[in-house]
Amino acid sequence: MATSQATAAAPNDLRALDTRHHFHPFTDHGALGARGGPRVITRAEGVHLWDADGRRFIDAMAGLWCVNIGYGRRELAAAAARQMAELPYYNTFFHTTHPPAAELGRVLAEVAPPGFNHVFFTNSGSEANDTVIRMVRRYFDVIGKPERHVILSRDNAYHGSTMGAASLGGMKETMHRQGGLPIPGIEHVMEPYWYKLGGERTPDEFGLEAARAVEERILALGPERVAAFIAEPIQGAGGVIVPPDTYWPEVARICREHGVLLVTDEVICGFGRTGPWFGSEYYGLDPDLMPIAKGLSSGYMPIGGVMVHDRIAEPLLGRGGEFFHGFTWSGHPVACAVALENIRILRAEGIVEHCREHTVPYFQAGVRELADHPLVGEVRGAGMLAALQLAEDPATRKRFEPEGEVGAACRERCLANGLVMRSVTESMVLSPPLVISRAEIDEVVEKARLALDETMDAIARPAGPAGAGAPAGARG
Ligand SMILES: Cc1ncc(COP(=O)(O)O)c(C=O)c1O
Repeated sequence: MATSQATAAAPNDLRALDTRHHFHPFTDHGALGARGGPRVITRAEGVHLWDADGRRFIDAMAGLWCVNIGYGRRELAAAAARQMAELPYYNTFFHTTHPPAAELGRVLAEVAPPGFNHVFFTNSGSEANDTVIRMVRRYFDVIGKPERHVILSRDNAYHGSTMGAASLGGMKETMHRQGGLPIPGIEHVMEPYWYKLGGERTPDEFGLEAARAVEERILALGPERVAAFIAEPIQGAGGVIVPPDTYWPEVARICREHGVLLVTDEVICGFGRTGPWFGSEYYGLDPDLMPIAKGLSSGYMPIGGVMVHDRIAEPLLGRGGEFFHGFTWSGHPVACAVALENIRILRAEGIVEHCREHTVPYFQAGVRELADHPLVGEVRGAGMLAALQLAEDPATRKRFEPEGEVGAACRERCLANGLVMRSVTESMVLSPPLVISRAEIDEVVEKARLALDETMDAIARPAGPAGAGAPAGARG
């Protein structure tokens, strides 16, 4: 089998092979070459990964924020194998369905907040967010308000990499500079990132100001032109930005008053990541659409979707006619079967509830122990999300220059100590599997402190730049 041959090959051969043929996502290949090629991950179990050199890492990022259930659950492999043998593929276009898609729709309606009784299946979070753009515009066409087409999002948001999703994203200096983005009809407003933008305001004052920026833009555009506001309940890839308490209630009021749909991107926040099943529940929000992916299958298979509230589904399904949208693999039977097994285990073992009651308090207390470190300006987090905000001068919130170097150096020190933690400029972010144990949380905190100490030493050492050994500007 190709896989076993590949994993049996010597690590350096694999690195050379990969370097010759593999065009990686979000990777500067010059920097990758300079460091001698990629890390080769070959195996995973629970919250741990092993590389081809036999080194073990504790994965405080759950892959890319997705392996909520932890690695190595054989039941998911068995579900995939059963479905492949029974019906490996059939489409869901043209008046057709199959058992896994129908069943997953039902199960999602059970775990989602009340009123979310329909799901449109995609293969990824990016496709889910592209679907959001087309769906909200279609909705307003169907209800006779075709001028409501503008979608508001936020600076520094990440909603995916396809043309639509990257346009919804607010990565202006990086993603929008490539490929002529954003597409028309998408506007960005201030993000509720108090540590960076709050200045002298208290977090609560700043939260209101950031919310009112949404209203100001709606009024400037004309509410009759604005279709929707999309945001993650807690920004993940932007740096685990937990908004001030005043932010969401005010945004919800503004959307309601101006007839603007609220889309909560649950790609990271869904499936227990913030404590409840969905991030919108953490803030008591009543969204209209919820894009989902990642934790839906705990990353074991590519699958995403858009959960649609009844008040949007009814006009769309009842009088919308055909929605000219879909993917060959919308509701892929194997992906649906794996997602079903993932949700079955999450429910049967009470993983979300146990995590919320027992693991979250321990995790949040553990990471907050690092607040006393001289490199750390702020520790923020909620649920199983956290960020250590590094600062040159924590007392004044002075940031390191150039942006990103110290974070990248710290990430490399984490990896050298067997800890996977990601850096988003100067935010060291954590999003471990929901099944992480207390002893494993202790291991994460201990390794993170060691990495912070070593980063501190590297900064203090005059000969070696802080970023030595780190790929410049790499997104973790
Ligand atoms: C909030 C959010 N939305 C959408 C996406 C895109 O998902 P995918 O990478 O599955 O396309 C991501 C990916 O990180 C995300 O964090």
